[in-house]
Amino acid sequence: MLAIHLEESDLEEVGWGKKMDSEVDAQSVKTSAQSDKYETAGPAWSERATAGELSAVLDPSGTRVRNLFLHHTSLAAAKHSVRRFAPRPGAHVRLLDYGCGTGRFIRQFGSRGYQVTGMDITPEMLDEAERFGLPQGCETKLADGGSLAMPDNSVDFIWICGVLKYALFPPAAACRGGDTDSADAEDPDFVPTYDGLAREMYRVLKDGGCVANLEMYVDVAPDPFLPGFGKAGFHLERIDVVRRENGRFERYQTGRIPSPLVPLNAAAAVWIRRALDDPHRPLVGFRDYLFLWKKPNHDTYTSP
Ligand SMILES: C[S@@+](CC[C@H](N)C(=O)[O-])C[C@H]1O[C@@H](n2cnc3c(N)ncnc32)[C@H](O)[C@@H]1O
Repeated sequence: MLAIHLEESDLEEVGWGKKMDSEVDAQSVKTSAQSDKYETAGPAWSERATAGELSAVLDPSGTRVRNLFLHHTSLAAAKHSVRRFAPRPGAHVRLLDYGCGTGRFIRQFGSRGYQVTGMDITPEMLDEAERFGLPQGCETKLADGGSLAMPDNSVDFIWICGVLKYALFPPAAACRGGDTDSADAEDPDFVPTYDGLAREMYRVLKDGGCVANLEMYVDVAPDPFLPGFGKAGFHLERIDVVRRENGRFERYQTGRIPSPLVPLNAAAAVWIRRALDDPHRPLVGFRDYLFLWKKPNHDTYTSP
């Protein structure tokens, strides 16, 4: 196991080495992780965690090539977002991988020289993230995304993949693995926490910083994802479609390409979707959206 943590002095520089009043203790986080608030209709995240680096977080019943393709489409979206919207890596540039699961993006960004904090609500996911190895300068943190226990204005860029829809749609929604179209799914007991998660990201992000949110397997238009971030104060920079589950192009990619070529083909598929697909075009079937949000610079902005 390779788990290298930050020097205490580095942490103190950004205020993370200090115990904070708002810090959530591990026990209270575990309690909320045990509820089904953020689960899929299938096995709980804690059970899925040990299914393998990719199967745990992508398609647990999918083939190796399918999971590889899904992995490389999301990786292409992540690389593009970081290249365009994050500062260059440096000793004090901190990325937050929000809902990091088994840590595939921590390893990706960390290997490019970024200091990454991988945060997740499921302890078993973080155990796996550490077991697969964390690059130097990277760490994991057990937390609910609604209460990050990080100082205000301390993070340069936030990456999210496959997390926030659980805070927006009730468990019966198809996009959570349920059997009702997400637009029609209702549950009187479900209280969406999406707006609060967006507010918490706004708080920890530095002025001018960006959030890149990849929502995978969504069967609705992008509209429900917009108000929460807008109310928090973010400006929408872009929405892109990066994958369609039943797209002819994607079916061709997964069906016929030998696995060594999957990364290249996944990147090409994402490039073509971003260039050609209109996210607001009515569509049947699941698709992945990439939302890019910017926290305005303080001197050019009046808070909402
Ligand atoms: C589909 S997995 C994605 C993991 C990772 N982002 C990836 O793409 O490899 C969803 C992850 O979100 C985590 N999660 C869900 N709701 C969360 C919340 N409110 N706060 C923190 N983590 C959350 C789950 O524990 C799970 O590890």
